[in-house]
Amino acid sequence: MEKSLDFTNNKLRKLGYISAPVDRSMDLPQAIQNLKKEKNAVLLAHYYQEPAIQELADYLGDSLYLAQQAEKIEADIIVFAGVHFMAETAKIINPTKKVLLPDLKAGCSLADSCPPDDFEAFKALHPKAVVVTYINCSADIKALSDIVCTSSNAIKVIESIPKDREIIFAPDKNLGRYLIRETGRKMILWDGACIVHEAFSFEKIVELAKIHPKAKFIAHPESESPILDIAHYVGSTSGLLRFVQDDPSTSYIVATEAGILHEMQKCCPEKTFIPAPVEDDTCACSECAFMKLNTLDKLYNCMLYELPEIELDTKLMNKARKPIERMLNL
Ligand code: 13P
Ligand code: SF4
Repeated sequence: MEKSLDFTNNKLRKLGYISAPVDRSMDLPQAIQNLKKEKNAVLLAHYYQEPAIQELADYLGDSLYLAQQAEKIEADIIVFAGVHFMAETAKIINPTKKVLLPDLKAGCSLADSCPPDDFEAFKALHPKAVVVTYINCSADIKALSDIVCTSSNAIKVIESIPKDREIIFAPDKNLGRYLIRETGRKMILWDGACIVHEAFSFEKIVELAKIHPKAKFIAHPESESPILDIAHYVGSTSGLLRFVQDDPSTSYIVATEAGILHEMQKCCPEKTFIPAPVEDDTCACSECAFMKLNTLDKLYNCMLYELPEIELDTKLMNKARKPIERMLNL
């Protein structure tokens, strides 16, 4: 039977999560596993989640993999341990399911950098351009797009666009610049960035590489151009993971959110992974504070109370679904 709940929707929206006390005497990971069975729920987790959440996931992966899985899920409930735009995407592509996010405030600096009204005005300046948006954006921005991409398939998506067409790429200028370099296509870039990937320090990475001369430097394409220019390999989270498994080197300096190191170390226990240093020594900037808002307690409560739930307007979902489906069908 459902526990009684004194949370009004407004209170939940303000706080972001269910703050009910969690019984410390229980085995929390086991209790979450039990709830999955009881509620016919499937847990999707991004590599940037804390290791304890990654360990509980039915599907663990990068943005593309999780979107592909979300589309196919037949269970009643999708619990998304990731950030808001990811859970929103899952709801859009599998709208009959209840989609839960442990903390509604798990946002994204890239998604926040692209307000729909401003983007609409920007788009109006280039009426003939094909609008390609990185999946790290809101449903409103997706609804204004022709095709969505993730860091795993961005090159393929750009190459699918006829050569004579102008392209708008939003919201990540760093990924955009990388795509211009890789595809040779001219693109009009929106000026957005990921606070985590922009925090890496070029100078400190160079210094660290001198201390570890045998380590390969690998980076996510949300990082700034000078950093990507010196990387031995650039790829999405799953691309980086594949690279370290296939590559013969034994140590790596990794420029992406530090959560991926958990799976890298599990896949390659004999190898060494060093998180790339950030500009500011006083903070854990290579951790995404939004991703880390999800905790085991919040995950447990979210499954127990089936809240917070992602709710979207049907018209908006129908508009936003088309560019996502174009990407998934590529
Ligand atoms: P990928 O999952 O596509 O590697 O993107 C990383 C990211 O920043 C997700 O928010
Ligand atoms: Fe957004 Fe960057 Fe966090 Fe990914 S790592 S969710 S792009 S802020």
